[in-house]
Amino acid sequence: MTARKRVGVLISGRGSNLSALIEACKKPSYPAEITVVISNRPDAAGLDIATKSGIATRVIDHKNYPSRETFEADLNAALRAANVDIICNAGFMRLLTKGFVEAWRDRQLNIHPSLLPAFKGLDTHERVIAAGEKISGCTVHFVRTQMDAGPIISQAEVPVLAADTPDDLAARVLQAEHKLYPQALELVASGSARVEGERVIHDLKPD
Ligand code: GRF
Repeated sequence: MTARKRVGVLISGRGSNLSALIEACKKPSYPAEITVVISNRPDAAGLDIATKSGIATRVIDHKNYPSRETFEADLNAALRAANVDIICNAGFMRLLTKGFVEAWRDRQLNIHPSLLPAFKGLDTHERVIAAGEKISGCTVHFVRTQMDAGPIISQAEVPVLAADTPDDLAARVLQAEHKLYPQALELVASGSARVEGERVIHDLKPD
């Protein structure tokens, strides 16, 4: 097997997608390993998840920086110091500037709990229910400067049930996220997914 890609995971909170990625990386044939977890919030529960799994963590608190650029300079330095090949945003609640996004172009993934390009932004599940959608889901995409936009790597659908509260729907979508994110990272880390003309092409490799 070729060398596993080194992944840096950016979080701001709970870290359930981080957990799913950690689990996937335990498989010997998985083409990626997590080498650092960085949170912009010191109280993010995901930091404990990483520590318990023996993964190095860093807190880079955006509140300690006078600008997005100075925050991102330290973020970038921490990722470079860990020799990261691929960044996975997993519930990372900071918008990134063009400079950072371009430095990691086609090497930074994000997961969003809707079928993009529908329902970008926050309060996704409330808005999906209010709109009367019957299907929702989640998307893993490469990061671009526009929020929740960029070439789509993979998506999964879940039904929206008549009695769903936003929390019910969030829980159902989250289960799908935990399957989708490891699959999408596998596609990227193995080189089976690549960006062409702002669309992701998947190579089907024979076994
Ligand atoms: C997930 O729903 C993800 O799609 C969104 O933020 C949430 C993060 O949850 N971007 P967790 O921290 O991974 O549990």
